[in-house]
Amino acid sequence: MRTGVWLVGARGSVATTSIVGALALRSGLTGPTGCVTELPDLRGPALPAFTDLVFGGHDVATTPLAKRAEALAAAGVLPARLVAALTDELAAVERELRPAPAGGTQADRAAATVRDLADFRRRHRLDRVVVVNVSATEAAARPHPGHADPDALRAALAGGDEVLPLSSLYAYAAVRAGCPYVDFTPSTGLRLPALTALAAEGAIPYAGHDGKTGETLVKSVLAPMFAMRHLAVRSWSGINLLGGGDGATLADPAANAAKTESKQRVLGETLGHLPQGGTRIEYVEALGDFKTAWDLITFDGFLGTGMRMEFTWHGCDSALAAPLVLDLARLTAAAHAAGHAGPLTDLAFFFKDPLGAPTHSLADQWTRLCGLARRLHAGGADAAPR
Ligand SMILES: NC(=O)c1ccc[n+]([C@@H]2O[C@H](COP(=O)([O-])OP(=O)(O)OC[C@H]3O[C@@H](n4cnc5c(N)ncnc54)[C@H](O)[C@@H]3O)[C@@H](O)[C@H]2O)c1
Repeated sequence: MRTGVWLVGARGSVATTSIVGALALRSGLTGPTGCVTELPDLRGPALPAFTDLVFGGHDVATTPLAKRAEALAAAGVLPARLVAALTDELAAVERELRPAPAGGTQADRAAATVRDLADFRRRHRLDRVVVVNVSATEAAARPHPGHADPDALRAALAGGDEVLPLSSLYAYAAVRAGCPYVDFTPSTGLRLPALTALAAEGAIPYAGHDGKTGETLVKSVLAPMFAMRHLAVRSWSGINLLGGGDGATLADPAANAAKTESKQRVLGETLGHLPQGGTRIEYVEALGDFKTAWDLITFDGFLGTGMRMEFTWHGCDSALAAPLVLDLARLTAAAHAAGHAGPLTDLAFFFKDPLGAPTHSLADQWTRLCGLARRLHAGGADAAPR
């Protein structure tokens, strides 16, 4: 199954690491550590192979992909020997990257994006193209009447309004081009009534939001433990220190607010109440793509005895995120091929703020993910959406 992976934000750290990783896997230069779709419970014939993935994408930045990869190697995110060995492959992907459409109205930019997607599919004779948003986090969307339904949206776009936030404009273009859409960021993306209705009309599956790679991943394991042991969590405070492009974006208070909201949701929904404390994100340029999260949890046990736990997570964000981007592209492509449409809630395992929020417990999310994979691999009627 030849599958296009169209990355919005294709020259960013997560995108570059995903591309280098996939090229290295395809060439047998590395193993699939971190790719959950290569675990025995998920592996199988329904998923496109790494050799079936073809990369393209949009970005507003113009730094050549090879230069971005070299910079990530110098920062210790990518092995330099891999980047050097993949020069030709990276040059081939470079030819598939397009400048983010600019100028004109939003309707014009959406049409240009649809054209880029259709040309990519045709050029490579792809069975389908999965659009994955790994672009910079944006602030929460400003309400607009055009968000209400497809007719209101079409009318607003036809009238030349700047109606959609950028992530949603890409999501709109993806749906119009018949492409499944994955949002790895906390941005609005497809989460507007007009867009979910259009996705339903077009039988387009979509997944999101905000990849779960570090502190929130640990929270989604620990919070259910406290709940299951009937321990009373009083406070949960976290500080995340990070550099890199994502850190720089999150230095903006509006983008920061979108991210911290997405990071706290797991606690409220798992514990049944929001404990005191919050999550802070602080930009520390010197840390580059490496992030340190420190969390302090206070809780009461039997007879009100107070206790506490702390954890520290030192993660390389892009190395944690990139294999999940590949997993999501493979699973979403397989779901589209099997006729799934609408929100892929069984992919909650991958996200901080999962669509439909079936559960925030990592163990429950894993069970649902394995069920989806089993149905997809079984094929035929078993693969059909529930
Ligand atoms: N790394 C992780 O562990 C992780 C986890 C969850 C979510 N995310 C999200 O993934 C996204 C990417 O993270 P990153 O570290 O690669 O950030 P980054 O800053 O390195 O990359 C973002 C890229 O998006 C591009 N961009 C900005 N505006 C654009 C537009 N309008 N159209 C197209 N491209 C545009 C930028 O030029 C840049 O190349 C962020 O939103 C981040 O919050 C990352």
